[in-house]
Amino acid sequence: MSSTTADLKRIDNQFIHPWEDIAKLGQNQRTVVDKGDGVYVYDSDGKRLLDGPGGMWCVNIGYRREEMAQAIYDQIMQLPYTSPWSTTSAPAVKFSQALAAEAPGDLNHVFFTTGGSTAVDSALRFVQFYNNMRAKPEKKRIISHKKGYHGSTYLSASVSGKERDKSALDFADELVHHIDPPHSMWKREDQSDAEFLDQCVANLENAILEIGADRCAVFVAEPILASGGVIVPPEGYHARCLEICRKYDMLYLSDEVVTSFGRLGHCFASEAVFGIQPDIITNAKGLTSAYIPMGAFLVSDRLLDEVKQLGGDSAIFSSGFTYSGHPVAAVAGLKNLEIMKREKMFEHVQEVGPYMQQQLQTLRDIPIVSDVRGIGLMGCVECELNAGDSDLAMDYEIGDRIDKHCQALGLIVRPMINMCVMSPPLTITRQQIDEMISILRQGIEMAMQDCIDEGIWSLEQAS
Ligand SMILES: Cc1ncc(COP(=O)(O)O)c(C=O)c1O
Repeated sequence: MSSTTADLKRIDNQFIHPWEDIAKLGQNQRTVVDKGDGVYVYDSDGKRLLDGPGGMWCVNIGYRREEMAQAIYDQIMQLPYTSPWSTTSAPAVKFSQALAAEAPGDLNHVFFTTGGSTAVDSALRFVQFYNNMRAKPEKKRIISHKKGYHGSTYLSASVSGKERDKSALDFADELVHHIDPPHSMWKREDQSDAEFLDQCVANLENAILEIGADRCAVFVAEPILASGGVIVPPEGYHARCLEICRKYDMLYLSDEVVTSFGRLGHCFASEAVFGIQPDIITNAKGLTSAYIPMGAFLVSDRLLDEVKQLGGDSAIFSSGFTYSGHPVAAVAGLKNLEIMKREKMFEHVQEVGPYMQQQLQTLRDIPIVSDVRGIGLMGCVECELNAGDSDLAMDYEIGDRIDKHCQALGLIVRPMINMCVMSPPLTITRQQIDEMISILRQGIEMAMQDCIDEGIWSLEQAS
């Protein structure tokens, strides 16, 4: 390790990173990532690493796009900022128009935010506003999934349902009700696919009946639960849930922060992959491929028309950010979409996505691999030492070891506890997928061997 790298790591230990274990502050040895090119990043010692998670499901067009840098530079020289309250800019106007054109149905209105959490938070505030305008102030409950992730502001974190994140912080529990996710691992052996689907949908309807439909405002769902471990719902789930929402006068918010902008081979996945036209879609991440932070929610003509009619002389949605519609971020968004279309990236994902899934499935023969699932360019390899009796410390143990080995072999995995999530840049080739899977196999097998050698686990314990 060079002295510069050592210094950077030492000084970095003063900073509080997301999900920091404060008890271990000062001991972390985070990789210093120095540069990126295509699907690879390079650490500060020059080591090349294939970026398995694609940043955090966000560097969709890949690293080091010169024309993107140029567009950002030009916009900064032209106009780096203007207030979204009293003025607008051509990039913000053009980008909102482009998003509305890509979005399903009548989702023609765009509200720009600074990232995914603020997109979800703002969209939920819009739902509250909508029901207040309809003189239904009691209609405020939000239903979402256990294992769902929707962000890190107070409201978006409250809507998130990852149990393992809920131990030491406060949440707006009075506003949220979590239902079981449609997780195929939880399907009983005696259940048919149709029965399992019915049960998943009944979870939503039963929750509404229990709370009272007049108190339920919105169902918030990721098309695929991303950070919860790439949970792919049974076919027809979202369409059936939308029907339930319509039946009980609830809105459907599709959180496409991860699934939009090509991850599943389409600009938006809600309609193209799942056949639904939600009332609201949130997005971020691939929206600008992370070159500049930005988020947005899109809302339907129908809802806005209703608010307009009900509001009379005044219907002020008192919510927004200094950086809403930031011109430089909007230019990055426009350039991102232009590159995706010109390079036929959605079609490319439709072609290589199934190949990645097929190759990931070959890892099932490793004894500690308990499940492999995914769709498009989202995949998850779940590893467990105590299959069926998951223990947080053991799960961290195996995840950390996989991380260490894969990184030494040239692949960033950064497992979410014990789940190796792969969501590489959309430009990944078949050959690079082979490289990714081959390293992942070696990393998992080496981590398993460590556990055997250290007496933590034995092959007899494999399920
Ligand atoms: C589905 C989903 N929604 C919202 C968010 C929050 O986005 P951000 O981290 O940009 O605030 C995330 C982040 O991972 C996400 O996966």
